[in-house]
Amino acid sequence: MERYRAVLTSLRANHFLDPGGSNLDQFEASIAAALRTARSHQGAGPLFGDADAPPPDPAATPWTVPDRLADDLVRHMDGLPDLLAGTVKSNHPRMVKNVIPTPTLAYLSSYVAAAVYMGNGVSAEDAGAALQAEIDLARLYAGLAGYDGAEAGGLFTFGGTATNLYAFRMGLLNVDPDALLRGVSRDVVVVGSRPAHYSHQTAVSWLGLGRDNYLMARSHRDQTTDLEDLDRICRAQIAAGRRIACIVGVGGTTSCMGIDDFAQLSGLIDRLVEDFGLPYRPHLHADSVIGWAYLHFSAYDFAGNPLGFREEVLGRLWRISSKIRTLRWADSFGIDFHKTGYAPYVSSMLVAKRRAKLAALGRESDMMTPLFHDAVAYNPGKYSLETSRSSANMVATLMSVSALGLEGFQVLLGHAQDISMRIKRDVGRRGSGLLVVNPDSSGSDVFIRAYPPEMDGDATFRTEMSCAAARKAITDYNDAFFQFLGRHYASGETGLAVSKTSAAFYTEAGDPVVALRLYILNPFLDAEAATDLVDTLAEAKTRFDAGRAVETRGSVTPPAPETATA
Ligand SMILES: Cc1ncc(COP(=O)(O)O)c(C=O)c1O
Repeated sequence: MERYRAVLTSLRANHFLDPGGSNLDQFEASIAAALRTARSHQGAGPLFGDADAPPPDPAATPWTVPDRLADDLVRHMDGLPDLLAGTVKSNHPRMVKNVIPTPTLAYLSSYVAAAVYMGNGVSAEDAGAALQAEIDLARLYAGLAGYDGAEAGGLFTFGGTATNLYAFRMGLLNVDPDALLRGVSRDVVVVGSRPAHYSHQTAVSWLGLGRDNYLMARSHRDQTTDLEDLDRICRAQIAAGRRIACIVGVGGTTSCMGIDDFAQLSGLIDRLVEDFGLPYRPHLHADSVIGWAYLHFSAYDFAGNPLGFREEVLGRLWRISSKIRTLRWADSFGIDFHKTGYAPYVSSMLVAKRRAKLAALGRESDMMTPLFHDAVAYNPGKYSLETSRSSANMVATLMSVSALGLEGFQVLLGHAQDISMRIKRDVGRRGSGLLVVNPDSSGSDVFIRAYPPEMDGDATFRTEMSCAAARKAITDYNDAFFQFLGRHYASGETGLAVSKTSAAFYTEAGDPVVALRLYILNPFLDAEAATDLVDTLAEAKTRFDAGRAVETRGSVTPPAPETATA
């Protein structure tokens, strides 16, 4: 047999699932091998393989692709653990970095099965009923937010960043319809706020509006937008002849989960339209890629509390839920299933109050026609930025959401809040120079600032809020403590993986405050593990301070003998 035929036979038998599924066992065996080898090398700590991520090194000996096929996929998986070294372990109870959920088994399993078929979610012609998953999920969240399901619509896309990009584009085409064919022809701005995510600036920049045309209103300590300042900025822009494409409110900021009241924002827009006789209405978008998940509480019986949340947890859930329900006043909002939705990267959705506005984002060009033969079919590819969209992601997201149900989400989020409150309380009790600096914020994130043992944390914190020099010294101390944690606590059973944020919140003067950050989402982090985690943090702090004391003593230059005797 020619060599190519022999290789083709092996490819068919070992590298692809055959059409009738006769080698399904082999596929299952390679999935099992991948999972097992990963598990057996994952280590005990919060980072894979108990290692800090090796920095990529472009100068390292280049990897080379083998000449031959792998003839045994099970053995081939032995190479997997090396590629995972240093990766965060999303299910490890002491991995509390960033906003990283543990992905559900329903998602992971259905994704693998659906990905085999390779539907492209730009047209139903390719993706079949997978696109129904997009329609159904958009309808679900539009409904939970209080939109009219007959008018609303939604679109999966590539991250929270893209949900903002879509929303700003809807706003842009509203104020400058020519932008679609001829490019931006007017002075256009987008107005957000200071603690909003930097992806807003990415979006205005990539839309060709220019990054300087993203204007930031001041915000309150809880990260909600200062509406007076927002109003002042909008009025000044309109008076200067600029058009406001979009006003973006916060629907759960990256830190501390500030949520605006979108009824108030909508009222503010009404007044702008009326006072200036505007021929358009600025688009109101909610960047709710973190806060959206609390829509699952829209119909929760807070009075009966059937899930039995503790009173303080229940109060917090009620407050968040009442705020997030004001999304009904926004024209669009964003969802990141890969954040508070327990899906893996990347699964995001933009939900629009009027799906006609979404559909108006694109206009068919002759170049597109060969792709979309059926004029009446659901063809989101006609207006999506992406030419390829994973329909497996749509299917898996729906499978995951339906496996959890409302109750599953309520328990996951309620548990996260419960544990975050316990951690805040435990850190406060410990008196080890660790101070929770967001005791009353709404998120399940905990921000901690460390203070040298000789200082009173509370008093220094108050001074720092108005004194930049005092803040700088403590920030340097926190940077050093964070590095110490990375050096000595990244691995093993006592390891922990926490983040450091450059802006836990902003002072009255608008300066960012640095803090250690623990984002609680993990279902395996229970009350006992939370206490252990705080114990480890306190112990690490004591060791860090002891080391510092030695270093400081060592660094004092001993007096010269003659001086000493003088
Ligand atoms: C509030 C907010 N908006 C947008 C984004 C961007 O989302 P993504 O990373 O999915 O693009 C983030 C991400 O961290 C965020 O916290």
